[in-house]
Amino acid sequence: MILTVTPNPSLDRTYEVPALDRGEVLRATAERMDPGGKGVNVSRAVAAAGRRTVAVLPLGGAPGALVAELLAQQGIEVAPVPVAGATRSNIALAEPDGTLTKINAPGPELTGAESEALLATVRARIGAHAGAGAGTGRDGDAVTWIACCGSLPRGLAPEWYAELVARAHEAGARIALDTSGPSLLAALRERPDVVKPNAEELAQAVGRPLATVGDAVKAAEELRTYGAAAVLASLGADGQLLVTETGTYFGSATVTSVRSNVGAGDASLAGFLAAGGEGPAALASAVAHGAAAVQLPGSVMPSPGDLDLSAVTVTADVPLDRLLTEPAS
Ligand SMILES: Nc1ncnc2c1ncn2[C@@H]1O[C@H](COP(=O)(O)OP(=O)(O)OP(=O)(O)O)[C@@H](O)[C@H]1O
Ligand SMILES: [Mg+2]
Repeated sequence: MILTVTPNPSLDRTYEVPALDRGEVLRATAERMDPGGKGVNVSRAVAAAGRRTVAVLPLGGAPGALVAELLAQQGIEVAPVPVAGATRSNIALAEPDGTLTKINAPGPELTGAESEALLATVRARIGAHAGAGAGTGRDGDAVTWIACCGSLPRGLAPEWYAELVARAHEAGARIALDTSGPSLLAALRERPDVVKPNAEELAQAVGRPLATVGDAVKAAEELRTYGAAAVLASLGADGQLLVTETGTYFGSATVTSVRSNVGAGDASLAGFLAAGGEGPAALASAVAHGAAAVQLPGSVMPSPGDLDLSAVTVTADVPLDRLLTEPAS
């Protein structure tokens, strides 16, 4: 069972507009609502892979209720943590040529009690599933991984993820962390089992630009010295790196047409965890999920039928001198 934690989820509203004219009244030709947030995406992709998942989310107000309802419709189990502030609504304006303009709201400020309730809910979920024993049916699924994803809402200290890692480890679960900036650096001290930075986040974490795959390997190794047990670094079109205690692997896939890279990193992390969360086979699954995700519209998560493992190459012979197509500053 893979538990996901999204501290700042959203109700994503997408409006299709003919053109983006500043200062004008734009008439949308279509609109849709989706539950949003990086951990929510991971849960959607894990569920699509046929694995059990529960999404832990602080939810408040009418938008929060809608997020819960939309996830329930998609068959995704939610462990809601009620909060006083309303869950944020993010707006996306989609133009016919595929250009997406997004407005992300800050979201509610969580109180100290709500912050603690979120940690306690994760801890209780690990306990509940571990206590039932593995292999005894749905409720007996042990929590194998906790994926903590995205930025922290106001009110949560940068050390909040560090605290979550510590408590999850005490309870015997493994932690995958996909965040950036000070909250990533603070959490490294608690030795998360895997972190998934993209190239920009990796460059920011080590404080220097990345021009080659070798630069990314060095940066990932540095994150290991700060405490990460393994680093799954996603390098956009160039593929992904897995740097662990036992080896370094590079994975890539041929993709002919890219429709949307939104959520490709989230799909990759889900693919990695659903395939066991370690070693080259899990990296291959991560790359297959990333490649499939970019060929699907919006943040649609891939299903098994979308995956093409035969298009994926994983090698321990890392092309260190290869220039990154999207260098990170
Ligand atoms: N243009 C592309 N062509 C082919 N594959 C891609 C492309 N962009 C992304 N991918 C695949 O998806 C993976 C994840 O993408 P990326 O590194 O952009 O993640 P990310 O920035 O964390 O994304 P997000 O946070 O929006 O989910 C890549 O490692 C790669 O396997
Ligand atoms: Mg990402």
